[in-house]
Amino acid sequence: ENVAPQFVEPHPALTFHIHATSGRARYTTVHIPHGPVSTPAFMPVGTKGTLKGMTPMDIVQDGALNNQIILSNTYHLALQPSTELIRDQGGLHKFMNWDRNILTDSGGFQMVSLLKLAEITEEGVTFENPFEAESLKQDVQKKIVEEEEAHVRCGKRHSDEETSIPTKSQRMLLRPEDSIYHQNNIGSDIIMALDDVVSSVSDDKTRFEIATYRTLRWLDRCFSAHRRKHDQNLFPIVQGGLDVSRGGLRDVCLAGFRIRDDSAPGYAIGGLAGGESKDDFWKVVDHCCRALPDNKPRYLMGVGYPLDLVVCTAMGVDMYDCVYPTRTARFGVAFVGGEAPGTLRLKANDCAEDYRVIDKGCGCMACKGGYTRARLYSMLKNDNPLAVSLVTHHNLAYMMALNRSMREAIKNDCYGDFARKFVDDQFRGKA
Ligand code: GUN
Ligand code: ZN
Repeated sequence: ENVAPQFVEPHPALTFHIHATSGRARYTTVHIPHGPVSTPAFMPVGTKGTLKGMTPMDIVQDGALNNQIILSNTYHLALQPSTELIRDQGGLHKFMNWDRNILTDSGGFQMVSLLKLAEITEEGVTFENPFEAESLKQDVQKKIVEEEEAHVRCGKRHSDEETSIPTKSQRMLLRPEDSIYHQNNIGSDIIMALDDVVSSVSDDKTRFEIATYRTLRWLDRCFSAHRRKHDQNLFPIVQGGLDVSRGGLRDVCLAGFRIRDDSAPGYAIGGLAGGESKDDFWKVVDHCCRALPDNKPRYLMGVGYPLDLVVCTAMGVDMYDCVYPTRTARFGVAFVGGEAPGTLRLKANDCAEDYRVIDKGCGCMACKGGYTRARLYSMLKNDNPLAVSLVTHHNLAYMMALNRSMREAIKNDCYGDFARKFVDDQFRGKA
């Protein structure tokens, strides 16, 4: 009898094609259940299953956007509307009416962003009910405001968290098994392991050590709990602080992943974008990219400054996410390219009589629609929510265009020149 040989597909829900490389930069396609993702790719963040001020149709039909993947957060969805409800509606894709890819973060990062509400043990993380702990709630709220203001002032790097207070909540125990259970309910195309995250600026060496080994133990629990390997991809997240010494904590984590490599369809790099110096940040990214396998996608978590994307792509990162482009839009800050690249504060008085669009080369709804800076200035001053939506469109269009030009430069094998020019222009813009 002619029986076809049985191949065991190790990662039935992901295939990875590298089309071109330029130095260590890669132009690839990641094929996952809801379609292809061209990389380098930036994933916008819709924490609670929605990109604020945007409809899924906006994202797909605005030719300047056309995102292939967005990110959402397990912790927030578990609080509201609950992942059982999402599952019963047919999963998050159906719930949102978004038929392209979704990646969910595991909830691990909330250990840092909601630190005052989190208690971490070997079992998992317990989040206090932010409504019972009124004083904590105020603390957290104060922190959010400060963070956002500081961010606009000094450009501190921002992580993926939409640090908002959930509207309905209980005390939540999030063990690795729970995080995977919720993500299996959500049905996202890429799900993240629950990691033990320590703020990158902490100086508690013991805590970093515990967290690194715990991240490996939790990874095994995540793999065991994962019920949908056929249509969801579980990515481990490299932790280990800022220690890139030989045999140091990043190496411990990377070595742990190497012996589990058969289980992982791709990897993420975590524990960064938390206020460490650029020097430390780049060293860790470089170190992890060199150690991770070349035949799987690499995702750098919480990174969304255009300059960081350009530099980290040169080191071999494929995917990024950050709230920065969308959050900063809500403060009336727009990305601009051209002769003086950087950010444009649309609420600043010099925009009041500036009758240019944000960027005349941009194809987004705001620029193509002819909304001048003066018009956006006045709309923002009047708290017109349409203005926020327009600036969000613009910033996402900027990120998409940046990714396209990175891919183009890699295809033409001139990524080094592209990156150097981008960096030079940025600094000229600042001078
Ligand atoms: N988002 C930004 N950084 C991290 C990280 O280290 N872990 C997780 N789970 N999410 C992140
Ligand atoms: Zn625009």
